Parts: sequence; structure tokens; C-alpha cells
Amino acid sequence: MSDSSKLKASTRLVHAGRRPRYTQNSVNPVIQRASSLIFNSLQEKKQATLNRANGALFYGRRGTLTHFALQEAMCDLEGGAGCALYPCGAAAVTNAILSFVGSGDHLLMSGAAYEPTQDFCNHVLSKFNVETTYYDPLIGADIAKLVRPNSKVLFLESPSSLTMEVPDIATIVSAVRAVNPEIVIMIDNTWGGGLLFKALQHDIDISIQAGTKYLVGHSDAMIGTAVANPRCWDQLREHSYLMGQMVDADTAYVTARGLRTLGVRLKQHHESSLKIAEWLAQRDEVRSVFHPALPDCPGHTFFKRDFSGSSGLFSFELKQTLNQQQLEAFFDHFNLFTMAYSWGGFESLILYNQPAEIARIRPNIERRLNGTLIRLHIGFEDVDDLIADLTAGFERLSAV
Ligand SMILES: Cc1ncc(COP(=O)(O)O)c(C=O)c1O
Repeated sequence: MSDSSKLKASTRLVHAGRRPRYTQNSVNPVIQRASSLIFNSLQEKKQATLNRANGALFYGRRGTLTHFALQEAMCDLEGGAGCALYPCGAAAVTNAILSFVGSGDHLLMSGAAYEPTQDFCNHVLSKFNVETTYYDPLIGADIAKLVRPNSKVLFLESPSSLTMEVPDIATIVSAVRAVNPEIVIMIDNTWGGGLLFKALQHDIDISIQAGTKYLVGHSDAMIGTAVANPRCWDQLREHSYLMGQMVDADTAYVTARGLRTLGVRLKQHHESSLKIAEWLAQRDEVRSVFHPALPDCPGHTFFKRDFSGSSGLFSFELKQTLNQQQLEAFFDHFNLFTMAYSWGGFESLILYNQPAEIARIRPNIERRLNGTLIRLHIGFEDVDDLIADLTAGFERLSAV
């Protein structure tokens, strides 16, 4: 495609990565399943070896045409120099970090990040003598005080998992860069699908996604992506390759297919989740609604400044902490909301955490909850039907 930079995001999502080399006369890229890729001459082998990190067909672990199409589309979406692919989001997070830290280094990690990301720091990085300091995502410029001479990575997540704080990224990034311009800044950008928050335009080096969620969009495949700027791409790519990180061609294919509808899906997630969040904010049972597009959400002003819309995942805090009987009455009988980990598909989901559990998995955050925290992912069912389902849940609760 010629000069795609002038096109709007929705247009780019439709066309990105669909060059004839990848599609071979079909609309979508071919699914090239391959470990061995054949060289017809020594000269061809030499060329492939020279260009193995640069789009040549070399060996399955470096990717096939299907992977290249997805990687190119992801770079178009997020504005990066390259995109590394991983078998799941957690692998993208851990391998991106591992690509830039070594023994004796220090890492700054959000204390409200996805729990397994924090667990990785506590249980794996610690074994390699990499020290982690957790910061409150609402810390702002004070983060500068936490930077050390050996700080190699600043890891952000926006919004935070479960409690949904939206950090002031501009302030955090510039404060950290003022002390240490070389630090590698990466973000778990899964919530915005790479579309709602343009991380690399905010002086962030690497944008990571659990593509399992919105990129795939149908809850039927797992993948991780990390899009890097030119400064970090070579190191991220080569370290991830050495760690054996790749995904199969079929998953790369369904991810690229998911990208075509990402824009329209996110618009619907935005519209429906906001309606339900606003409805919840009026309910007597609810203390606070943590939807980034609503004022109750910590960091709402930064959301308004930095994001072009919201997705479908948010949480709300009840006024009370539900006991077991209330939990069963509420959660065991929904018609439409189902209980499952993960999110980002076309279906609505519901899960909860008790205040004590939130305190346990966020030991470094002082803010505490007083009531049960319920997390919703709003899919594509009709909003009225979803509200009726939740209303019935609240009625069951009041009957206990
Ligand atoms: C914010 C966030 N990051 C990363 C992950 C990990 O993704 P995956 O399950 O694909 O490993 C998840 C999964 O729920 C997540 O919510």
C-alpha cells in the first residue's frame, strides 16, 4: 500500500499487511505452515541467512509469510519498527522484560499490574538477581525518586488490571527519562488493543499486548505481541528469538483476521460498556464504578487526554463485601454473563475479587477497597438484555 500514513485507522486496519507477497491473489494472507523453508541454491540460502531478520523465508521459528503479514499489520497499527510474536500475552510480557534486564539490574513495575506480571518479577526475575521496585500507577512525577543508576526497564500498564487506574503517562515517562534517558519503557497496552492508546507516540519504546484479548477478539486463540521502536527492535527480536518465542501460522492468521474488525468491535465495546457502567453508577448497591471513561475511575482525566475511546472491560465496587451465600445467589444464575478468565471476545463475562484478595495481590498500593469488586467484560449482546441480567442478579442478592 502506498503512503498508508495519511489514511485513517479504520482504513489501515483493513489493508495493513495485505501485500501480494503474503496474500497471493486471495484477500487474506496465505496460511504457510512450515518449519523447514527450502533453499533452491546455495546463493538463495546465503541471501536468506543474510536477511533472516528482515522478511526472508529462513526457518519456521523466524516466521513464514503468514507471520510476516501479521507483523507488518501490527507495526502499521502501533507505529513500530518491528513486532515480535509470542504464544500468549504472558510470554510477551516476560520475554520483553528479559530482553532488557540482566543480573544486578533494577526494574520499575506498576504495583497494580496484571498479577502474573508481578509474580514473574517476584519469582523469576528475583532468581536472576534483578530487583523490582513497585510503584503506584498514580505516582506521577514522584517516580523520578525511584529511578536508580541500574534501572533498565520501566514497565507500565494502562489501565491497571482489576482496579483500572489510568496513569499519567506523559508525566511518568518524562520524569523517568529526565533521570535516565536510556531506560527502556514498555507498556502492557492490551486494554486499548493498540488502537485506543498509541503508546509509541508517547515516548514509550515497546507496546505489549495479550493479543488473546482484542486482537483475536473471539476467545478462541492465544497470542502475545510486542511492537518496538527502532531503538529497541533489534534487541527485542534477537532475545525473543533466542528464547524460542514464536506462534503457529494458524494463530497468526486468525490474529490478522481479527485486526480487520478491531476498530468496529472496539467502538461497540465502548458504547455498550459505557451504557452499562453509567447504569451501574446509579444503582444503590454500588459504591464506585471504575470505568476509565467515568469520573469515579482514578486517572479519568488522563484517560480523557490520552485515549481515543474505551474498550469493554471495567470493574465496580459494591457497598458491601458479599458473603458466600450472597456470592452464590448473585454469580451462579446469570443467563448471559458467564464466569471465565480472560476477556476481549464477543461475549460478556463476570468475575469478582474480595477486598482482602485485592489487598493481597496489590501489597504495594495503599488504596484499599471496602466492598466486593466485580469485573465485567461487555460483549456484543444487546445492552438492554445485559442490564436485565444484572438487574435479576441484584434482585437475587436482595432476596438473600
Ligand atoms: C492485562 C493483561 N496482560 C496480560 C495478560 C496475559 O495474557 P495471556 O493470557 O494471553 O497470557 C492478561 C490476561 O488476562 C491480561 O489481562
